Amino acid sequence: MRKPIIAGNWKMFKTRDEALQFVYNINMKLPSTEFVDSVVCAQSPILRDLVKRQGDNLRIGAQNMHYLDSGAYTGEVSAPLLENIGVEYVIIGHSERRAYFNETDGAINKKLHQAFRYGLKPILCVGESLEVREANDTNEFVRNQVELDLKGLGTEQVKSLVLAYEPIWAIGTGKTATSEMANETIKAIRGVVKDLYGKETAEAIRIQYGGSVKPGNIKELLATSDIDGALVGGASLDPESFLALVNAGVKK
Ligand code: 13P
Repeated sequence: MRKPIIAGNWKMFKTRDEALQFVYNINMKLPSTEFVDSVVCAQSPILRDLVKRQGDNLRIGAQNMHYLDSGAYTGEVSAPLLENIGVEYVIIGHSERRAYFNETDGAINKKLHQAFRYGLKPILCVGESLEVREANDTNEFVRNQVELDLKGLGTEQVKSLVLAYEPIWAIGTGKTATSEMANETIKAIRGVVKDLYGKETAEAIRIQYGGSVKPGNIKELLATSDIDGALVGGASLDPESFLALVNAGVKK
């Protein structure tokens, strides 16, 4: 049985005060990590404050990191620093980073290796554009991303990482992939992991869906065979909404 994982990707939202108020509001109400993993991924300057105030059932993640330990890379954040301040998760290869910051699969692959070197748990994002979906090339497109991104990783590493399937056309648009559509692609992604790493790894790896997930549609998504959680943008910003999302994870 794969434990569901619900992660909020706050993107470039929330000041320190807003983020701490959020954590204060939800800490005592979060379900036990025995049933669901609850994560929020915030902007770098407030990660340490969030780690200090995370309750027993909340985990903190970064939204990006560099693949080198240190160097003259103005504005970047290193894995050693994230480890040092107690961050547990890191989103790698979000489509917004791929699109606006020119992140390539090669760089994403290096970032995954780097995250494991420092004991960080990556949430690796893959997903197709509307153009690719309409050309019926989705499965081939995500297969290519998964193959390139996971290159050289060991079986145990792949088992422990979280994959997030986020169709770009469903992000922030209010258009969710239907649960059947999302499950079908996630099944195909699990098939790629099986081809590369075998059945046991494919059955162990957790794969989230992301793209306009809300309290009103998460239950249907999680009721499918292969969707193990959600990576949520907009609907993760409000404490009550976030609680509804993680509670849906408990009932998966
Ligand atoms: P929305 O939930 O706002 O569509 O964002 C999805 C996303 O990009 C999460 O990483």
